[in-house]
Amino acid sequence: MSAALQATAHPRLSARVGGMAPSATLAVDAMAKAMKAAGRDVIGFGAGEPDFATPGYIVAAAERACREPRLHHYTPAGGLPELREAVAAKSARDSGLQTQASQVLVTNGAKQAVFEAFATLLDPGDQVLLPAPYWTTYPEAIRLAGGVPIEVPTTPEEGYLASVEQLEQFRTRRTKALLWCSPSNPSGAVAGRDLTRDVGRWAVDTGTWVVTDEIYEHFVYGDVQMASLPVEVPDLADQCVVVNGVAKTYAMTGWRVGWLIGPSDVVKAATNLQSHSTSNVCNVAQAASVAALNGDLSAMATMRAAFDRRRIMMHSMLAAIPGVTCPEPMGAFFCFPSLLDVLDRPVRGRTPKSSNDLAAILLEEVGVAIVPGEAFGTPGYARLSYALSDEELAEGVSRLAAVLADAG
Ligand SMILES: Cc1ncc(COP(=O)(O)O)c(C=O)c1O
Repeated sequence: MSAALQATAHPRLSARVGGMAPSATLAVDAMAKAMKAAGRDVIGFGAGEPDFATPGYIVAAAERACREPRLHHYTPAGGLPELREAVAAKSARDSGLQTQASQVLVTNGAKQAVFEAFATLLDPGDQVLLPAPYWTTYPEAIRLAGGVPIEVPTTPEEGYLASVEQLEQFRTRRTKALLWCSPSNPSGAVAGRDLTRDVGRWAVDTGTWVVTDEIYEHFVYGDVQMASLPVEVPDLADQCVVVNGVAKTYAMTGWRVGWLIGPSDVVKAATNLQSHSTSNVCNVAQAASVAALNGDLSAMATMRAAFDRRRIMMHSMLAAIPGVTCPEPMGAFFCFPSLLDVLDRPVRGRTPKSSNDLAAILLEEVGVAIVPGEAFGTPGYARLSYALSDEELAEGVSRLAAVLADAG
């Protein structure tokens, strides 16, 4: 060491990771579970996962996989060949997307697919259009990749859907990509076929890449149908990455299997990245996912019927609370009410100034956990999951209504 070189004080954490907020949705869910375990009467609306067990035939496939020596060892970073084939076949079956196993990268949950998609596509300063409310992980994944999330605000009156005009308003020369999530977490909005086509054509015309998250594809209700961007606009295929996984459809959130589908060069580069970070996804979970995808969708249909019943119940109860505005969610398993008109009024002797404040009051006063809109880029709103029992749902929303009656 040179005698002249003084010790340098470095920040302990990198700016990239040190500035990252914890996942608010996981935090709310963990807090509600911890309070419950400590004996408190808490009803958690934070869950972003089905309250069902993984179907037995999938668990049985995992048990068999545990006894298969081939799966005790490293397998290709891109995924088990049979799973990549199953994803390609499933995509043709479920959304009509024609793709090949070579265009599939199996990831540790769809979350890793989101991170890898942005890491592969973005250079520092590249902007990504992000309709708000958005899933809390997207801006972090964009920023970690050096990108800049550009929020495109939407309103309940527009059904929380961004139009092409709104996207165009926020597009600049630095816009590299759009993040599209339909059915949406957190709003439950579902883009119809016309909007999907418009957005797809706009992306082609403007040379904008699209990362489209289809993880809730099967959870659509009423007459609404899922529309997939690269299926509606096949010309988009060369500038589109589809993100999906088994977590929601098969109640497999804990198994950690997702994937991305994209053009060959993107998949190859993302596979290189994964080969240096996490290597292959747990083989037992991959084998379970092969069984899931090659099986039928009957277990999902049972869950969807339960969610639909609870969706109608939660939406009608929330919409009946004075001062609460809540468009009917047509997809995923969340309601996303606006609480703007009940803020700044005294409730239980306190005056919530923000949805964060109100969420804290609800948890402390009546043991109800909601995720405040701050987590989704929309202060003044909240996300409530209806992936919990009918009884808990009715009790929890009644408690919330009783507190807000003070403010109404
Ligand atoms: C919109 C969306 N995309 C991706 C994910 C991540 O799914 P996974 O559990 O497969 O990582 C979630 C999970 O909540 C989600 O809501």
